[in-house]
Amino acid sequence: PKRVRIPHLHALKERGERWAMLTAYDAYTAEIFDEAGIKVLLVGDSAANNVYGYDNTLPVTVEELLPLVKAVSRGARTALVVADLPFGSYQTGPEQALTTAFRFMKEAGAHAVKLEGGARFVPQVDALVGAGIPVMAHLGFTPQSEHALGGFRVQGRGGAADRLVEDALALQAAGAFAVVLEMVPADVAKRVTAELDVPTIGIGAGPDCDAQVLVWSDMAGMNRGRKPRFVKQYADVGAVLLDAARRFGADVADGRYPAEEHSYT
Ligand code: KIV
Ligand code: NA
Repeated sequence: PKRVRIPHLHALKERGERWAMLTAYDAYTAEIFDEAGIKVLLVGDSAANNVYGYDNTLPVTVEELLPLVKAVSRGARTALVVADLPFGSYQTGPEQALTTAFRFMKEAGAHAVKLEGGARFVPQVDALVGAGIPVMAHLGFTPQSEHALGGFRVQGRGGAADRLVEDALALQAAGAFAVVLEMVPADVAKRVTAELDVPTIGIGAGPDCDAQVLVWSDMAGMNRGRKPRFVKQYADVGAVLLDAARRFGADVADGRYPAEEHSYT
């Protein structure tokens, strides 16, 4: 199979074909999700929680995310690899966004970057696109703004819906190739999806987006904690690992491992 490229994602929207994105933070998961036909792998700043154990995405740094993007780029044969720009690495202005994005593209092999925020970030998107860097936008609940937004809340309800549509159109006009919609009422996400030429990628944004994304550790049951309403759990990898680790520990304690077949003469 050939590398997924942005025109392909745009053609899927035209044909009305849905597709999926997953986060990945290492080479093994990247290889597996790639083999499963997942079109886009996002090295999310959700690595803050899911890899580094922080409480939210604010503390994670470019230096912490770069090696994860490198690993995913090596593991992904056909999927498009998107690197999330972390909090504080692009908000200062277009120059900072360029400096950060160049690192993810040159040092880590990303094919595109993602940033959070509405029309205010048009200068950043414009500069990146102008430099040949594809940009995925992210609207609705944007975790890097958790404190400004007053916690985990659905965004774009009531009068805020028009603003969301305007933001999405402004980002598209600046050259964004896709827009993530997080925790947005289903009817609002449907409206944005109809108004945009570029694909919408929903997470807690109802069934009418062009694509859907989940954090892999949520959908596979690696995250043992609280799960938002929008998560569907497809596996319990956490339970499988817990059982494997327990049985390994018990086998060693009881002298069942290593057995003869695991030993050299
Ligand atoms: O960091 C992340 O995982 C994300 C997705 C949830 C869109 O931004
Ligand atoms: Na993110």
